[in-house]
Amino acid sequence: MIKTELCEMLGIEHPIIQAGMGPFDTAQLAAAVSNAGAFGIISHWGVGTEPPINPAEKMKESIQYLMEHTEGNFGVNIRVARIQIDAPAVLKEVVEARERDTEVKRRLKLVITSAGDPRRPAEEIRKSPGLLHFHVAPSLYHARRVEAAGCDGVIATGYEGGGHQSYEQVNTVVLVPEVVKALKIPVIASGGICDGTGLAASLTMGAIGIQMGTRFIATRDCEFHQNYKDFIVRSTDTDTTIVQGAFGPIRLLKNKYSLSAPKPVDKEARVTQEKEMFADLEKLREDLEKYALIYEGDVEGGAVLCGEVAGRIEDIPTVKELIDQIIREAEEIIQRLPQKIVR
Ligand SMILES: Cc1cc2nc3c(=O)[nH]c(=O)nc-3n(C[C@H](O)[C@H](O)[C@H](O)COP(=O)(O)O)c2cc1C
Repeated sequence: MIKTELCEMLGIEHPIIQAGMGPFDTAQLAAAVSNAGAFGIISHWGVGTEPPINPAEKMKESIQYLMEHTEGNFGVNIRVARIQIDAPAVLKEVVEARERDTEVKRRLKLVITSAGDPRRPAEEIRKSPGLLHFHVAPSLYHARRVEAAGCDGVIATGYEGGGHQSYEQVNTVVLVPEVVKALKIPVIASGGICDGTGLAASLTMGAIGIQMGTRFIATRDCEFHQNYKDFIVRSTDTDTTIVQGAFGPIRLLKNKYSLSAPKPVDKEARVTQEKEMFADLEKLREDLEKYALIYEGDVEGGAVLCGEVAGRIEDIPTVKELIDQIIREAEEIIQRLPQKIVR
């Protein structure tokens, strides 16, 4: 058993959070993660148009799904970038779901916001008693803003992670200790973590737990397409690339789509791109279609969001097998550590 402050905060057995992986549905994965004693996250959904479902409605359905498929605690991820115009409605649904049902209130413990300013959602989240708020930070500058916004924790996510990345390009092994040193609020390490070595290293760097995305995709319980999982398993550490996504730079596995996609633009060009997107939301929809393709299993034409850590993933276990293995490994590493010191 490895109990940390994170276990106490979230009411879980193991200090492991499953990362939000919108725009895909992760309700089934989240239930499996919570059932295995870690912390499952419902993602900010938004892929597929047939029939059109609104993301707030989808959040309501997913909360219901979690209530029916696990007795464990769980949380949600909401992307709060300016372009994410549905974020306030999705957050409102989370707050109201907790007001409507005391059991939801007891078990829906955390909102992880990301990709934007944490201040506005922080005000809303504070109005819901007992609801914790973590925000994702890709650099020390951003982490300081998370603390100043009054968040309960910061998820320090390094550049090697899967999916959208910031312009700052700070890797996990630099980011986590600098944020731990500078902040008073708890830090969760994320980006490039897939096993007990990653958990033990994160605790050593001062984090109170880990968050993993890519590793959880390659599990039997994850609802993602089998082709997605197999693609991760056969990839190596140099098989990801960064391109310009709808919300900024994004890390994808190399394939026909990503190798011909536009390279990341600089921050200034990004402002223009964002204005264009606001003016014509069709552009955003085109981007989301690339996500829809991979959800249907097209590993060549789709945007395969994935971290560098794919190179270290070699199997597709159940979530429970994975979590038990991570804890066992981390315990062994921590116990063996003193023997490594030559006295
Ligand atoms: C398929 C996929 C989708 C993602 N979608 C989101 C998202 O909607 N919101 C978010 O904050 N982060 C998103 N991320 C980033 C993860 O939350 C997390 O930061 C990342 O997976 C950590 O790195 P790792 O993949 O090496 O574990 C996504 C990552 C992946 C792989």
